[in-house]
Amino acid sequence: MSSLAEAPTRGITTRPIHPTFGLEITGLDVTKPIDAETLDWLKDMSSKHKLLLFKGQNLSTGDLNAFAQKFGDTAQPPPKTSATVTRTDNITELGTQGGAPASGYEVVARFWHVDSSWRPIPTWLTLLTAVEMPEGEGHTGFADMEAAYNALSDERKAFLEGKQMVHSFTALRRYENTIPPMAEEDVPPPAVHPVVCTVDGRKVLFLSNQTCYYVGNMPFEEGCALYEELIAHATSPQFVYEHVWSPGDLAMWDDRTTMHRAVPYDSSKRRIMHRAEVKGTQVPS
Ligand code: OGA
Ligand code: MN
Repeated sequence: MSSLAEAPTRGITTRPIHPTFGLEITGLDVTKPIDAETLDWLKDMSSKHKLLLFKGQNLSTGDLNAFAQKFGDTAQPPPKTSATVTRTDNITELGTQGGAPASGYEVVARFWHVDSSWRPIPTWLTLLTAVEMPEGEGHTGFADMEAAYNALSDERKAFLEGKQMVHSFTALRRYENTIPPMAEEDVPPPAVHPVVCTVDGRKVLFLSNQTCYYVGNMPFEEGCALYEELIAHATSPQFVYEHVWSPGDLAMWDDRTTMHRAVPYDSSKRRIMHRAEVKGTQVPS
C-alpha cells in the first residue's frame, strides 16, 4: 500500500489503481460515523483522483443514501421516461434481471457518459455499488477527462477554448433505436456547456456520448464531427480504467472530470447495481 495521500483517520490506506486517476481506499467503513476532517479528506481525494473505490462495503440502500448525503443534496428526480426504475431510500436500482432483455435505461448506460450532463447543473458525484454480478463480466469503464484534455495538441486546445457543446436528454435516440420514445412535453430542455471546463483549477474535456449532440458556432456537420472526434479521443485505452466488480464494492466518482459506462455484457444475465447521485452546485465553466 502506498501512502500517496495522508489520511486523517488512523488505519486508512490508499492505493492508486491507474497511472493517471483512481484511488482505492481501505480501512474505512462508510457506514460508521465519519468525522469532518476525514470527510474533507474524502472530498479532496475525490477531486484529485476522480474515482474512489471502497471494496467490501456491502451497503444497504439506507447505508448508501446516508453516505451519499454526507457529500451534499442527493435529490435528483429522474425525468419521466417509459423506463422502469426502482427507487428505495432515494437509491436507484439498475441492472438486468436475468432472462429478460435489457431495458432502454440499461442500454443507455453502455454509452460513455456523464450523469445528468443534460441538466443546467449536472451531477457532481455518483456512488455505485454492486449487489449482484455475473461471473467474469458486468464491468464498469471510467475515462479520465483531465488526462484526455492534457494529451491534446496545443493547437487543438486553443481551437476548443470557448467552444460550447449542446447536451440533449434524447440525443442518444439518433443511433440507439431500442430506446422507447418520449412524449415531447416530457423531454427536458437541452443544456449548453463548455467543451473545456475548469474543475478545481484543472482543465478537463466535458463530454458525454449519451447526451452530446454537436459543438455549436460552426457548421452543423462540422460540430457533429468534432464531437465524434473528441469522444473517440477521450475513450482511448490509455485514459480508461475498467473496474471488475466484486459484490459489495462501492465506487464514487466525480462526474465533472470523468466519463463512465457499463461495459457491454450478456444482458440475459442478472446484474444488480444501486446508485446515488450527489447534485452539483455550479454550472460547468
Ligand atoms: C450509472 C451507470 C454503469 C454501470 O449508474 O450511472 O452508468 O456499470 N452505471 O452500471
Ligand atoms: Mn451513469
